[in-house]
Amino acid sequence: MTRRRTTAAASPASVIPAARVAWCVVVGAVFALAPSARAAGAGAAEANDRLAAQTLAIFGEKCFGCHTAAAKPKFKKFNYVDDLTKLAGNPKFIVAGDPDKSLLYKQIVEDEMPPEDSDVQPLTPAQRDVVRAWIKAGAPAGRTVPGGGIAKPIPLAQNPGGIISSDAPKSAPATPRPTRPFFTRLILWLGKFHPLAAHTPIAVLMAAAIAEMLFLKYRSPALTSAARFCMVLGGMGAVLTAALGWAMATGYSGAEREALETHRWAGTAAALLCIPIALLGEWGARRAHREGRDWHGPSRWLFRVSVFFVAGLVGFAAHIGGLIVWGADMFQFPK
Ligand code: HEC
Repeated sequence: MTRRRTTAAASPASVIPAARVAWCVVVGAVFALAPSARAAGAGAAEANDRLAAQTLAIFGEKCFGCHTAAAKPKFKKFNYVDDLTKLAGNPKFIVAGDPDKSLLYKQIVEDEMPPEDSDVQPLTPAQRDVVRAWIKAGAPAGRTVPGGGIAKPIPLAQNPGGIISSDAPKSAPATPRPTRPFFTRLILWLGKFHPLAAHTPIAVLMAAAIAEMLFLKYRSPALTSAARFCMVLGGMGAVLTAALGWAMATGYSGAEREALETHRWAGTAAALLCIPIALLGEWGARRAHREGRDWHGPSRWLFRVSVFFVAGLVGFAAHIGGLIVWGADMFQFPK
């Protein structure tokens, strides 16, 4: 002890090797640690790639059916769930690092998405955790790999959980939705006939309006009969269509909601209006018939104006319905 201190203090020559040793240790440590630091960086990037790939695979299974440009019906506002870069860039949906502030994650955990009335099952807890971890990690887009796309997710058909196989929890079967009551399912099923039924009132109420227009020129009793017939048939179709529409339009939320409300109330109002108009047609024409004349006068004018109005209202409702399904630019001239 005494000796060592003495030597160190006494001889500058012995200080030099000590400094050299220390220097070598520092340099050596840098060389030794650098690759592992680099490896740690690479590991994080790889983990991010995998998270991105897993997330994309989950979206592929659960969301692509409705939220890609190719999906039908088209939701123009949000049709890029397959583009993680664009998705992560929209703060309305993703707040990088904060899943609980991210609308997309909230929609998933609150079981809003996929919608209850769709055929797509909700995410498994393990899948939710992947989406959560992905947002927490800053919603990385994943590295593109040669040949396009990002680090490959396992094909969905082979991987219903959407989890990359090596870390697929063995015990995470998809939690099936509890079977809904028969009546609920019946209503959902009937709702699917709304677009089918809608064509009848649209065409037939327009035909009623055309018959009324032609009557103004030709004054033919046949045209009175045609207008009455179309008004009754079209009115029945409108009431049925509106009822089916209420059955169809459950579970809408978000951007299309406003258009849907307009469509719903225009259609419902048109259907309700059809009833008194059709009754007026029957009453007026039958009374005139009893009196041995064709139907003219103020009551006929009231009928006529109402038919024009309700045909226009149905056309308007149908147009909004078309926009909801096919997108706002559906009439754009092809480029
Ligand atoms: C069966 C079709 C369907 C599926 C599957 C589906 N969605 Fe949706 N999604 C809708 C509809 C309908 C809306 C409401 C209309 C709209 O806003 O575009 C909507 C709205 C959203 C919105 C709000 C959009 C906005 O502009 O406010 C988010 C976020 C969303 N979905 C995320 C998802 C995610 C994530 C998945 C997959 C886990 C998913 N959806 C699966 C039909 C679907």
